Amino acid sequence: MAGLLDGKRLLITGVITDASIAFHVARVAQEQGAQVVLAGYGRMRLVERIAQRLPQPAPVLELDVADQGQLDSLAQRLGEHVDGLDGVLHSIGFAPASCLGGEFLNAPWEDVATTLQVSAYSFKSLAMACLPLLGTGSSIVGMDFDNRQAWPAYDWMGVAKSALESVCRYLARDLGPHGVRVNLVAAGPVRTLAAKSIPGFAAFENAWNGRAPLGWNVDDPTPVARTVCALLSDWLPATTGSMVWADGGFHAIGV
Ligand SMILES: NC(=O)c1ccc[n+]([C@@H]2O[C@H](COP(=O)([O-])OP(=O)(O)OC[C@H]3O[C@@H](n4cnc5c(N)ncnc54)[C@H](O)[C@@H]3O)[C@@H](O)[C@H]2O)c1
Repeated sequence: MAGLLDGKRLLITGVITDASIAFHVARVAQEQGAQVVLAGYGRMRLVERIAQRLPQPAPVLELDVADQGQLDSLAQRLGEHVDGLDGVLHSIGFAPASCLGGEFLNAPWEDVATTLQVSAYSFKSLAMACLPLLGTGSSIVGMDFDNRQAWPAYDWMGVAKSALESVCRYLARDLGPHGVRVNLVAAGPVRTLAAKSIPGFAAFENAWNGRAPLGWNVDDPTPVARTVCALLSDWLPATTGSMVWADGGFHAIGV
């Protein structure tokens, strides 16, 4: 049977454990016929071990999105594994502890700057680093948590997500002429390492399952992964600069 992503060459960032949203995107993408290269950050031995748990063990490159040298060499390093790219997933976020958990009014600029650089500006950095390999019809996807309203505890990470939503629109504007689509998937809460570092994450978990019309399971990343794979496929060819919700419909419902 033909797969949704047959023949697609994908760079997937953001795998740190086998709970990472990016891990499940890589898994579903391989199941759908894609060739996957992972980019990992920091704990490379761990990422390499997790890469072995995919249906087909994937090569892993090192990428700190705040390191211009690593960004500059990315296309060349990718060239050792693939002769081009059809899709890129940015599944990266980080905020120092001061930026999460209710101390919004006291977070120092240096910490806020790190949050914005790693969680929002890097969407542009990664796109530019991959652009030499991206042809017409390719797709870049980032991971969002809808920030049209303020949330408990999410604080400066929420501000970074608002920035990411704007970066997505400007990237879509500037990469459209290259035939490259740029979109975000706004996921409901999924239990990952990053999620557990948000004090008060349980409040999201409880709210979601009560309100989402389709229900929501924080332990099931597959619906989010499938949504990302749809955007990486050829089946949303006129969609760019968009935020696509994979949240069980939570965003559509008032209290
Ligand atoms: N888990 C959720 O509930 C949820 C909901 C909506 C959106 N998201 C978003 O999904 C994305 C992935 O998060 P996750 O929940 O899978 O958690 P995760 O902890 O598994 O992934 C976060 C990743 O960011 C990477 N990272 C951090 N700093 C980096 C840097 N300087 N350079 C390169 N990579 C770096 C980490 O190595 C890790 O792989 C994030 O953007 C997150 O905000 C998560």
